[in-house]
Amino acid sequence: MNKNPVILGTGSYLPENVVTNTDLESRVDTSDEWIRTRSGISERRIADEDQSASDLGVPAARAALEDADVSPGSIDLVVVPTSTPDMAFPSTACAIQDQLGISGAAAFDISAACSGYIYGLSIAHSQIKAGVVENVLLVAPEVYSRVLNWDDRTTCVLFGDGAAAVVLGSSADGSDAGFKSLYIKSDGENRDILTLPSGGSALPLTPESVEKGEHLLSMDGRAVYRIAVRRMRSSALKVLHRADMKSEDIDWVICHQANTRIIDSVRKRLKMPKKKMIVNLDKYGNTSAASIGIALDEARRDGRVSSGDTVMFVAFGGGLTWGAAIVTLP
Ligand code: ACO
Repeated sequence: MNKNPVILGTGSYLPENVVTNTDLESRVDTSDEWIRTRSGISERRIADEDQSASDLGVPAARAALEDADVSPGSIDLVVVPTSTPDMAFPSTACAIQDQLGISGAAAFDISAACSGYIYGLSIAHSQIKAGVVENVLLVAPEVYSRVLNWDDRTTCVLFGDGAAAVVLGSSADGSDAGFKSLYIKSDGENRDILTLPSGGSALPLTPESVEKGEHLLSMDGRAVYRIAVRRMRSSALKVLHRADMKSEDIDWVICHQANTRIIDSVRKRLKMPKKKMIVNLDKYGNTSAASIGIALDEARRDGRVSSGDTVMFVAFGGGLTWGAAIVTLP
């Protein structure tokens, strides 16, 4: 039987600790006005010291399983896109699998930075479509507060912590729900503009590398901005073309929540009315792989996005990586 992969349920988790732009003014030479006008961010959540990526991922996953009405035992595959894993290995996916008691599933992490959610959807989609697995739990937990240089005003004001989860399975025959198109791409040539260089085999963690701050995120924001605008616009057009759809056929657009100016430029390229854009980065900042999933879950739970709606996701991140997807909810 030809399987039609669908989103069965969503969940998210945000740490309780709210850090406002004004709070950051006492830490670095910045202002609430600069952060809001340049990025659209007003506040972000920061994980407690004892919370790791898997600790954020587990409650998000539980919420998604409950929403989907799928038991942990029915999950065959756990995919975890994150660039702030608990540790290099074992995977954060295995830690989440264990904490949820999902025995017998395959579990692995993927590294696609802020595009991780769409890369994860793409993997889940093809595994279900090929009949390799039946139900996939995709969990995107990020704890960027651990890898930020809190003395660098050009990056520390932009990111936040949080987790998103989604359960995917197959629809009943004849349903219009499911993925209309998917698109993922990378360009390793520009990988140097957004990095966390130390801690791997190329540059092992040493007192010297820590001294130089090479274990922390570094970004050429201007260069990332330029390429992100171009790639996100073209990804959005690509998935519309692949699905043989027009902007009018899309009910909601959820872009990676990095910068309202980037989101607005994608919106203008698509000639999409503002009311169709789901934006929450004012509250959470850039939560990397989790950002699209948190926005989707919030919008489903507050009743904006409902059954039968067609949603476009558009992402961009380190790697460089980018992609988009169009999906109709069951
Ligand atoms: N507060 C005050 N001033 C600041 C701050 C700050 N927090 N940060 C930078 N500035 C200063 C700069 O030093 C610069 O000063 P100068 O002109 O004296 O040199 C001035 O503000 C302007 O800096 P720009 O970098 O030109 O500011 P820009 O308008 O480009 O905005 C930003 C910067 C917000 C980082 C933007 O470039 C951006 O959003 N880039 C994309 C980031 C992104 O999308 N990342 C997604 C991928 S993330 C991932 O995959 C992990």
